[in-house]
Amino acid sequence: MRVVETCAEMMALCREVPRPLGLVPTMGALHEGHLSLTRQARLDNATMAASIFVNPTQFGPNEDFTTYPRSMERDLELLEAQGTDLVFAPLPPEVYPDGFDTYIEPGAVAEGMEGASRPGHFRGVATVVAKLFTITRPDRAYFGQKDGQQVAVIRKMNADLNLGVDVVTMPTIREPDGLAMSSRNAYLTEEERAAAPVVHRALCAAESLWNAGERDAGRLRTAALALLRQEPLVSGVDYVSVVDAETMAPVGFAPAGRRVMIAAAARLGSVRLIDNVVVG
Ligand code: PAJ
Repeated sequence: MRVVETCAEMMALCREVPRPLGLVPTMGALHEGHLSLTRQARLDNATMAASIFVNPTQFGPNEDFTTYPRSMERDLELLEAQGTDLVFAPLPPEVYPDGFDTYIEPGAVAEGMEGASRPGHFRGVATVVAKLFTITRPDRAYFGQKDGQQVAVIRKMNADLNLGVDVVTMPTIREPDGLAMSSRNAYLTEEERAAAPVVHRALCAAESLWNAGERDAGRLRTAALALLRQEPLVSGVDYVSVVDAETMAPVGFAPAGRRVMIAAAARLGSVRLIDNVVVG
């Protein structure tokens, strides 16, 4: 396994490696969710590359960029055990040198939900993923459904800008009690951790209604909100949204034959959790 810290060296190596090349972009603090991506990427490709980069441009000024969990040594051990060929682990000035001034601005797909709650977030995600795509030129890139709107933003960018990458979406990996795995789960206190599965339970309540034939988005949202509001440790709900699974456009009454994503963002104490389920 080669660990590479500069864009120039990564670009040079990626030109020479056996194809197909699969890329797994991450911000490190790796858990089973990330490893499900590297495992698939390893199976599908002759060369598997992962990136570890806590991307400053996707964090808002009052967000957790400086405190975001970092565990480089352990991450490298995990990636090595997964059979990773190349790890790209640059520092911020390598990716954003002085004078950096060009960004990718996603459109309507990035407007609601995370885009509304975290202004500028998807601009930062799209910009860094575009850079990772151009530095490594992967045949395939792997993303988790856990961040459902993020995958939609990346798919749209990939199509609109003809980046030509096969974007592979992998299912959300959960703890046994349903909580979606996330590096940020490490911030939860013991009590908050015990309450955290309520986010998934709320989405499952909406999904059950869907499975019983309910297609009115308002009713699906109400069912999920009711559960979230019953939990005293939920300090706020940023949104519960019912959207088209591809365009992220809000759905009023779910049209037949479209896949629909029911997504939520809720705060437990100071920790913000997101999750989603896809139906239809
Ligand atoms: P990060 O949060 O580290 O996640 C890296 C990848 O792992 C993303 O595609 C994410 O959706 C996926 N992932 C996280 N938790 C998951 C889970 N429980 N099940 C399945 N997949 C999961 O997402 C980012 O980093 C960044 O925004 C990035 C795309 C790297 C750009 O900076």
